Amino acid sequence: MEFELNAYLTSKRERIEAALGAFLPPVTARPGTLHDSIRYSVLAPGKRLRPILVLAGAQAVSGSDCDDMVMRTACALECIHAFSLIHDDLPCMDNDDYRRGRLTNHKVYGDAMALLAGDALMVFAFQLIAENIETVPADRLLPALRLVSIASGTWGMVGGQVVDMESQGQDVTTETLQYIHAHKTGALLTVSVVAGAILAGATEEQLVALRAYGAHSGLAFQIADDILDVTGDQDKIGKPVGSDEERDKATFPKLFGLEESRRRAHSEVDLALKSLELFDESAEPLRAIARYIVERDL
Ligand code: IPE
Ligand code: IPE
Ligand code: MG
Ligand code: MG
Ligand code: MG
Repeated sequence: MEFELNAYLTSKRERIEAALGAFLPPVTARPGTLHDSIRYSVLAPGKRLRPILVLAGAQAVSGSDCDDMVMRTACALECIHAFSLIHDDLPCMDNDDYRRGRLTNHKVYGDAMALLAGDALMVFAFQLIAENIETVPADRLLPALRLVSIASGTWGMVGGQVVDMESQGQDVTTETLQYIHAHKTGALLTVSVVAGAILAGATEEQLVALRAYGAHSGLAFQIADDILDVTGDQDKIGKPVGSDEERDKATFPKLFGLEESRRRAHSEVDLALKSLELFDESAEPLRAIARYIVERDL
C-alpha cells in the first residue's frame, strides 16, 4: 500500500500540537505575559517537521508507533526551533515582521519579551527531555540529551546563525555556505531523527545511516527555504518573501542561481534516500518526508 504522507503529517501534527498545548506553561501562571508570548509563537501554525522527525526516527528503528514514549523529546525539539525563530526575526538579526502568518513575537510583545521567550523556551526544552525519563531508560535518554545540546548551541544552530550574520553582504565560499546551512538548519533536523532513533534503541549502524539522512535532507531543506524566499508566496510561507536579498544573505540562489539550487536540493534528497537503504518499510515516513522537503511550497 502506498504511504499517505498528507494523512501521516496531519495526524502527527495534531498529536504534537495537543502535547505542546498541555506541556507549555499556562498563561494563568506567573509571569503570564511571558507564557502568553511563548504560546503565541510555539502554537502558531508551523509544519512541526522537527518533532515529526523525532517520531519518524523512533518508528524507523522500533518498527511501530512509539509516539507516546518519545513525545516530550519531540516537543522539546519544537521548543528549541521556536526559540531560534523568535530570535532570528529580531531587529538585531533578520528584522522580519511576519512568521507563521502572524506578526513576529517582538512586534507583538516587544524586543525584551521576545528575547526572554526565546531564553525560556531554550531551557524549557531541556526540562522536557529530562522529564522524558518517565518513559525512556537513562542509558538512552542521556546520549540523546547530549546530542540535542550539541546540535543547539555553538556546535550547531547557534554557530550557524553566527556565521549567517557575519556573512551578510560578504562574498562567501561554497564551503562557508555549506557550514551555515549544515549548522543553522541541518543540525536540529539531523538531531531530531537521531534522538528519536536513540530513544527507540537504535544500533550504531542505524545511527550512522540516520545521521547521513539528516545531513542530506537538512541541507535540502535549507536550500528549499532559500528558494522559497525568492519564488514563494507570502500567504503560503507565512513570512516575508525577498528578506534574504534585502539583507544580502549567503544563500544557494545567490551563489548558484535558482536552477542549480533546485538541482542541488534534489541531489541531496537522492542521497538522503540512499542512506536509508538498510531500513525496511518502517522508514517509509522518513523517505516521504525527504521527497516532500523539495516539493513543498510552504
Ligand atoms: C524555518 O523553519 C526556519 C528554517 C530553519 C529554514 P520551518 O520552515 O520548519 O518553519 P515552521 O516551523 O514550519 O514555521
Ligand atoms: C534561519 O534561517 C534558521 C534558523 C535557525 C531560525 P532563515 O533566516 O533563512 O529562516 P527564515 O527564512 O527566517 O525562516
Ligand atoms: Mg536568519
Ligand atoms: Mg530569517
Ligand atoms: Mg529563510
